[in-house]
Amino acid sequence: MAIIDGKKISAKTREQIAVDTQKLLEETGIRPGLAVIIVGDDPASHVYVKNKKKGCEQVGFYSEEYALPEQTSQEELMQLLDRLNADPKIHGILVQLPLPRHLDEKAVIERILPSKDVDAFHAVNVGKIMIGNYDFLPCTPAGVMELIHSTGISVSGKECVVIGRSNIVGKPMAMLLLHENGTVTICHSRTQNLAEVTRRADILVSAVGRAKFVTADMVKPGAVVIDVGMNRDENGKLCGDVDFAAVEPIASYITPVPGGVGPMTITMLLKNTLTSAQKAAKGE
Ligand code: GUN
Repeated sequence: MAIIDGKKISAKTREQIAVDTQKLLEETGIRPGLAVIIVGDDPASHVYVKNKKKGCEQVGFYSEEYALPEQTSQEELMQLLDRLNADPKIHGILVQLPLPRHLDEKAVIERILPSKDVDAFHAVNVGKIMIGNYDFLPCTPAGVMELIHSTGISVSGKECVVIGRSNIVGKPMAMLLLHENGTVTICHSRTQNLAEVTRRADILVSAVGRAKFVTADMVKPGAVVIDVGMNRDENGKLCGDVDFAAVEPIASYITPVPGGVGPMTITMLLKNTLTSAQKAAKGE
């Protein structure tokens, strides 16, 4: 019924980040700095990176962008990470995923200093999230939580169903819902009777990567439906995982694609970078 406006919520949060950035700069002389690395020429990844750069400019961050050729070697990438790890102007390092197949994604993530890992992908940060004592929240799940909070609906005690179990979205998403006392189920490609499980959800989060995967029969009337998908439909138009036209009339709240989760993800990245700079200012 009601559409959650991710762009609007995101703009409001970015205004606050810009204010806090200016304050940090005036009080300590430190300007938050983000380095974004992209390897190869996947068009979708380049769109994300462009939006990240735009976000940095909006809030007054310093930013560096490294667009490296497809043939970049593991060693070259590792050397760049070592240099950025040691650079005091840089508080956040993001390596856009997926990487070309010849590169070892796990080793790359583990090379980033946990204190500069603003994606919260490093095992140290993942572990901290698991025990509920963290500096950074993973950007997409954190953005989803903000969108859920914007509805005024409390997660506590609710049936929450997450479709997808990736390290980037599904697993940390489930953990954040659990932190807020949701009763959480994670579904995936081997789940039996998927529609039966998703129909129990008061809060349904889909992170599958398939257009029109979530159909009306999978949604409980009145549910909050959050669509993390970023797909192309049969006409090449950007769309989420949810069959929006069919599900929107039965959901209490729903996020559109584009204009839902996407803008929030980048906002959370900016928030993590600010947090990292604030910690650096305190010598932490
Ligand atoms: N690729 C898709 N989403 C993300 C993200 O949140 N961070 C990075 N680094 N790569 C991604």
